Amino acid sequence: MNDFIMHTLKEEVHGKLLPLMDSLCIENKEVDLQELLGRFSFNVICKFTMGSNDGDDENNRCCLNPSFPISPLAKAFDVAAEISARRGAAPLFLVWRVKKWLRVGSERRLREAVKEVQTRVMEMILNRKKKMSVMGEEFLGGQDLLSRLIYSDHDEEVIRDMVISLIMAGRDTTSSALTWFFWLLSSHSEIEHMIVKETLNYDYDYDYESLKNMNYLKACLCEAMRLYPPVAWDSKHATCDDILPYGTMVRSGDRVTYFPYRMGRLENLWGKDWFEFRPDRWFIEPVDPGENEVVLKEVCPFKFPIFQGGPRVCLGKEMAFVEMKYVVASIVRRFKIRIVSSEKPIFVPLLTAHMAGSLKGLVSKRV
Ligand code: HEM
Repeated sequence: MNDFIMHTLKEEVHGKLLPLMDSLCIENKEVDLQELLGRFSFNVICKFTMGSNDGDDENNRCCLNPSFPISPLAKAFDVAAEISARRGAAPLFLVWRVKKWLRVGSERRLREAVKEVQTRVMEMILNRKKKMSVMGEEFLGGQDLLSRLIYSDHDEEVIRDMVISLIMAGRDTTSSALTWFFWLLSSHSEIEHMIVKETLNYDYDYDYESLKNMNYLKACLCEAMRLYPPVAWDSKHATCDDILPYGTMVRSGDRVTYFPYRMGRLENLWGKDWFEFRPDRWFIEPVDPGENEVVLKEVCPFKFPIFQGGPRVCLGKEMAFVEMKYVVASIVRRFKIRIVSSEKPIFVPLLTAHMAGSLKGLVSKRV
């Protein structure tokens, strides 16, 4: 599986992302980094789940260049995610329930978007099945999730829903983390310098092992997600009566919400300087990534619940770090990004958090 993830990332980073950044340098053209990273992570998760050996699937992926429209599948995912998040945050659930019942307004749009996602993903499953039945053994090499699920003989609707859940879980989360990360980096040149130094310990063509070893970069990514968590709030519904550790009574059916965004900003958890972007709070001792090994502290997931804690912890955590490290290490070694606006961006905590508006940047070659 690691080989397949690395292969997917190589194709998307070296084949598409870096050439686009090269052309942005030459044209000296502003780019919306939030949009670019969103398209990139959508393509990566689609390729990871549905594979790259199908020409038809290309129509469902996005052109990386933000001046082109996003694919209809990505658009339908966006609409469905936004309306669902607004449901979760609505003070009165009765309003959306009535709209759903009447099939009007946002609930009608949600219904249409869900239908579109389901239809497109189902088409891909059926196409893949057809090809697999024609090509037989030759297709056994398909390492993507879709081929594996088809071989394991699951029901088509179950496969469809698994693929949709994975795309939902893996797309905006990594791009949200990366967008805030690049924004923070733009005002911390000394940290950027340390990251570049760490990447210089490895060949340009990073492999899985070298990415795993980039602990300085991992600390920077964790620190960015502490301040700007991709999943800023999350709710659970109690299946039976319970009592929380500090004595709060929870009744069966109650909704309990926790806020990683607030938890990352609590003085009693992170100290008086909680508002500072300080990756060194993740090290056991101060280090120079060019000289010595960076050893990271073990941080309890209930203090840092960015990937959640307990039995339903994020299944894509390792993949997310590999992807984010690959992208950052590939970009910062070759390019400098200057953020155009000096205003502090606004954090919008929908299903996955993002920045209000855009994050415009200018890309230049690192010399
Ligand atoms: C920085 C990136 C990511 C963050 C912050 C993140 C965060 C989370 C969180 C908080 C949950 C728990 C949601 C809940 O139960 O309410 C979750 C679940 C999940 N994530 Fe991620 N995720 C990230 C990337 C990914 C990626 C890239 C994948 C796929 C390859 C993925 C796959 C999943 C899956 C399948 C679950 C459901 C696990 C279950 O319910 O048992 N995630 N993630």
